[in-house]
This record gives sequence, C-alpha cells and structure tokens, in this order.
Amino acid sequence: NTNSIFALDYISGALTLNGPLDRENPFYSAGFILTVKGTELNDDRTPSNATVTTTFNILVIDINDNAPEFNSSEYSVAIPELAQVGFALPLFIQVQDKDEGPNSIFEVYLVGNNSNHFIISPTSIQGKADIRVRVAVPLDFETIPRYEFSLFANESVPDHVGFARVKINLINENDNRPVFSKVLYNISLFENTTVGTTVLQVH
Ligand SMILES: *[C@@H]1O[C@H](CO)[C@@H](O)[C@H](O)[C@H]1NC(C)=O
Ligand SMILES: *[C@@H]1O[C@H](CO)[C@@H](O)[C@H](O)[C@H]1NC(C)=O
Ligand SMILES: *[C@@H]1O[C@H](CO)[C@@H](O)[C@H](O)[C@H]1NC(C)=O
Ligand SMILES: *[C@@H]1O[C@H](CO)[C@@H](O)[C@H](O)[C@H]1NC(C)=O
Ligand SMILES: *[C@@H]1O[C@H](CO)[C@@H](O)[C@H](O)[C@H]1NC(C)=O
Ligand SMILES: *[C@@H]1O[C@H](CO)[C@@H](O)[C@H](O)[C@H]1NC(C)=O
Repeated sequence: NTNSIFALDYISGALTLNGPLDRENPFYSAGFILTVKGTELNDDRTPSNATVTTTFNILVIDINDNAPEFNSSEYSVAIPELAQVGFALPLFIQVQDKDEGPNSIFEVYLVGNNSNHFIISPTSIQGKADIRVRVAVPLDFETIPRYEFSLFANESVPDHVGFARVKINLINENDNRPVFSKVLYNISLFENTTVGTTVLQVH
C-alpha cells in the first residue's frame, strides 16, 4: 500500500482511495496488489489465530493528462555552411508524452522563416522519440547566416502542446573568390585632367 494510497475501513471492509492516483508515477504505473487479512477476535477482544487473507488487484487506467514535452526549452547548434543536403545536425532533441497508447500520440512541426531549409523526422510519434534535424537544401552563409525556429509537438487535444526553440548558426567557410564590382570599367577623361585626379574607384 505505497504511500498509504488506499485505506480500509476495519469494520465495514470498504476500501477507499486515500491519496491522488497517478499512472505516470513509476510506483503506481504497474497497479496495486493489496493483501487484506481478516482476524477473528477472542472473547477478550484479543486477535485469535483464526485468520484469512485475500488479495485485491487494482489496475490504474490511463487518462490523457500529459502534454508532449521536449527535454530542453532551447536547442542550438553551429554547422558549416557547406554541410551537405541530408546532413544530420548534432542537436539532441528528445520529446515524450508520458501517457499510454493512443493518449500519447502527437505530431511534431518545425515552424519559422525558411524552416523548409531543414527537415525533421520522425514527425508522427507515439510515446517517446529522438528528433533528427537534417539539411534539406544547399545552405549559404552569405545569404542566410542564422536560422531561428519553433518546434511544436501537438496532440489532437487542444492545449496539449510541447514547445522548444531551435537556433542554427552557419559557420562561414572560404567559398567565395574575390570579384570586381564591374566586369568593365570604362571612363572618359579630358586631356587637360591634372595629375593626381581620382578618375575611378575600383571595388
Ligand atoms: C496460536 O498460535 C500460537 C503460536 O503459533 C500457539 O502457541 C497457540 O497454541 C495457538 N493457539 C491456538 C488456540 O491454536
Ligand atoms: C535530450 O535527450 C537526448 C537523447 O536522449 C540527449 O542526448 C540529450 O542530452 C538530452 N538533452 C537534455 C538537455 O537533457
Ligand atoms: C526571412 O528570412 C529572409 C532571409 O534571411 C529575410 O530576408 C526575410 O526578411 C525574413 N522574413 C521574415 C518575415 O522575417
Ligand atoms: C500546434 O499548436 C500551436 C500552439 O497551440 C498552434 O499555434 C499551432 O497552430 C498548432 N499546429 C498545428 C499544425 O496544429
Ligand atoms: C566606353 O565608353 C565610350 C564613350 O561612352 C564608348 O564609346 C565605348 O563604346 C565604350 N566602350 C565599351 C567597351 O563599352
Ligand atoms: C579643361 O578644359 C575644359 C574645356 O576647355 C575646361 O572647361 C576646364 O576648366 C579645363 N580644366 C582644367 C583643370 O584646366
């Protein structure tokens, strides 16, 4: 009778719940096997040797009282801008709904500007899963140096939503040659132009 969660009325024999149940508490999740002993009293009200025992088997049925949860509120990582399409980012994301069976089914979404540059899997989860984030398109530090996304884990029940931030910084790599600002610089000068006059800014 862990934590005296049940109480037995010694006279009427009524077994009553004496504390809050929680199927997700590891001490309670397997249910309860209670042994109840009846003892006959002697004439002087002392317990006699005449006893009987029986067992009560109590199963705790799950209800959907937990939302999915990520194991951190924020995940951040830096990856080289030349990471290949399909590269799995070293983000260690775990998400779990502590309920059981159909009560623990949910979907995971990556939401935010340019979130289609990355792909997550799995997206349909029952219970617990590790989420992988992979590069979906060629990246470019010079175009987008950093990404910031929201990660949602939505159950079919409204309000049962897990949330986390995902921050991805690209590490600049030497992937650009020097280039001139124009292919051709074409200027005209008066012949009397004085020496030392700036005639052109090459960039
Ligand atoms: C009850 O049990 C005790 C201990 O086992 C024994 O000494 C005693 O004789 C028993 N009494 C009866 C009435 O059986
Ligand atoms: C989240 O879970 C993953 C997978 O078990 C683990 O590698 C990671 O360290 C956990 N993160 C945190 C912040 O606990
Ligand atoms: C989305 O990201 C692009 C590239 O960084 C940026 O140009 C654009 O303004 C962003 N849009 C919003 C709504 O933040
Ligand atoms: C997931 O839940 C969030 C927060 O309630 C909501 O804004 C979002 O629209 C939901 N996404 C889907 C696909 O239902
Ligand atoms: C350079 O400019 C002059 C005067 O505007 C023009 O006549 C000439 O065609 C230009 N040269 C080239 C290669 O564009
Ligand atoms: C160059 O010649 C032009 C045309 O005659 C004149 O307008 C200008 O002032 C001269 N510039 C100089 C620096 O002498």
